[in-house]
Order: sequence, then structure tokens, then C-alpha cells
Amino acid sequence: MSSSILVGYATSYSSTLEVAEAIAGTLRECGLAVDTRPVREVRTLTGDTVVVLGAPLFMFHWHKDIN
Ligand SMILES: Cc1cc2nc3c(=O)[nH]c(=O)nc-3n(C[C@H](O)[C@H](O)[C@H](O)COP(=O)(O)O)c2cc1C
Repeated sequence: MSSSILVGYATSYSSTLEVAEAIAGTLRECGLAVDTRPVREVRTLTGDTVVVLGAPLFMFHWHKDIN
């Protein structure tokens, strides 16, 4: 089983996606294996040893995909 970092994100207008891609890019520059995926597509964490989650607030509530 390989190990990797999952950077999961929820977004409506793409700014959180851009932040997720920036984080993933920096981690890759450090030689780490990183997957970047929308959290709504994540079904299992098999092989992911570290998870980074990012989501925006809308009207004081987390983005619906992070609930
Ligand atoms: C209708 C609306 C409501 C928002 N409500 C909040 C809020 O309650 N708290 C907050 O910190 N930011 C709020 N924001 C700012 C968003 O969280 C911010 O624009 C975020 O970067 C959007 O992420 P996304 O581009 O990945 O969808 C709101 C933005 C909009 C358009």
C-alpha cells in the first residue's frame, strides 16, 4: 500500500480549489505524493496517511460538501 497526502476541498467559486492546488504544489516540491480531489468524490482514505481539508463559509455555515 502506497502512502500519500490527500488535499480535499469544497468550493463553489474556485478560490478554495486554487488554495488546495497551491498547498499540493508546495508539498510536491518537497518530494511528497499528493492527491488533490473534491471532497464530494472521496469515498475511502485507503493509502492516504495525511488529510488536509479546505472549505469556505457561506452565511456562517461550512460549504455543503464538507458536512
Ligand atoms: C453569499 C456568500 C456568503 C458568504 N458568507 C461567508 C461567511 O459567513 N463567512 C465567511 O468568512 N465568508 C463568507 N463568504 C466568503 C466566502 O467564504 C469566500 O468568498 C470563499 O473564498 C468562497 O470560496 P470558493 O471560491 O472556494 O467557493 C461568503 C461569500 C458569499 C458569496
